Amino acid sequence: MNRKKIAVVFGTRPDTIKMAPIILELQKNDDCFDVLTIATAQHRQMLDQVLEVFSIKPNYDLDIMAPKQTLASLTAKIITGIDEILEKEKPDMVLVQGDTSTTCIGSLAAFYRQIPVGHIEAGLRTNDRANPFPEEINRRITGCITDLHFAPTASAKKSLLLENTDPNTVFVTGNTVVDALKYSVKENYIFTVPLLNNIVKQKKKVVLVTMHRRENWGKPMEGAASAIKRLAQKFPNFAFIFPLHLNPIVREAVTPYLKDLPNVSLIEPLDYLDFVNLMAKSYLILTDSGGVQEEGPHFGVPILVLRYVTERPDAVDYGTVKLVGLDEETIYNTALQLFENEAEYKKMATAVNPYGDGLSSERTIKIIKNYFGMANEEVAEFVPR
Ligand code: UD1
Ligand code: UDP
Repeated sequence: MNRKKIAVVFGTRPDTIKMAPIILELQKNDDCFDVLTIATAQHRQMLDQVLEVFSIKPNYDLDIMAPKQTLASLTAKIITGIDEILEKEKPDMVLVQGDTSTTCIGSLAAFYRQIPVGHIEAGLRTNDRANPFPEEINRRITGCITDLHFAPTASAKKSLLLENTDPNTVFVTGNTVVDALKYSVKENYIFTVPLLNNIVKQKKKVVLVTMHRRENWGKPMEGAASAIKRLAQKFPNFAFIFPLHLNPIVREAVTPYLKDLPNVSLIEPLDYLDFVNLMAKSYLILTDSGGVQEEGPHFGVPILVLRYVTERPDAVDYGTVKLVGLDEETIYNTALQLFENEAEYKKMATAVNPYGDGLSSERTIKIIKNYFGMANEEVAEFVPR
């Protein structure tokens, strides 16, 4: 058989977590594929944490991260860096994941070299150019370029078809975020951070918080931080755990509100294993993250999403996720209601994951084999159960 060389491009925490199961599955199929891993390192420490968990050693590492980097400088470094590798390695396909600059510019670099592109987590849309920024446009650009669209859900497929995407190129695979969870969550997990073991031992109710979105920088993020401060003061026995994104802009916004509260822990980004195992033990999650919105439903942990729109509507429809926006009063009152009204809380705390079943990477690789004529196998679409 004529083996194919698949270049897998990633560079931030979330795209690497979701690409890891794809890399592992490609490696399992080494009779068909040579895997070329290309890290832009748009993130550095947060990327390295993930690479370690999944034992991935990139073939190329562009090491482009700079403090407070701009979108333009990122873009320039990614496109020239990846282009040099593509010219030298001549892969048969480039895989990108999600909606980061690495994703979008990685796909553009492949297009310029006329290499087919597979997009993992295709078709997510808010149809609002400014939210999330710049990810909504990153996804649309990637979608225009892509040859194989791996849509996580039926709703994502629908969005692609509404844009006149060729239906023969769109496949509902589920989201690999669930594959990664299955690899990582353990019943009696011991945390590497002692504070977390103590909190779990004391059976404290954990409120887990993350924030980082560009469109929330400044006042919106400060409003959310202020709501969290008031909640922490009202519920002194709850443990508020806030692993801070390494972006200094995020830290500058939230630290003044939350730094001196005894039951709020502002901590460094947790490594992926600590983070997802803490999610499993959390009482409530407040987040503006995309990936966390997809992971929470797996554990039946209610999530309040600190955004006004989401490109991940499925868990909102299932009732496990609520969009609360960034208004301080709304965040405070919605969380308060959940803390004080058990029936309301229970309504949200149902473990249905509309995003995946842990088999997404397997489906994806089968579809890639079909594409190259290495197999001719019917691949059933992912359906949530
Ligand atoms: C990026 C993605 C966003 C994704 C997010 C996940 C773009 C434009 N943004 O946003 O879609 O949701 O990652 O977290 O692609 N930093 C470090 N160390 C790290 C990582 C970041 O110091 O390991 C700091 C640096 O100062 C860096 C800044 O954070 O300049 C911003 O990083 P960047 O990748 O540009 O944007 P994010 O806000 O992380
Ligand atoms: N995550 C992590 N450590 C943390 C916070 C989050 O490993 O301290 C993981 C989380 O499990 C999820 C991903 O990072 O898989 C989400 O990344 P992020 O919120 O930075 O980006 P987004 O998903 O919003 O693009």
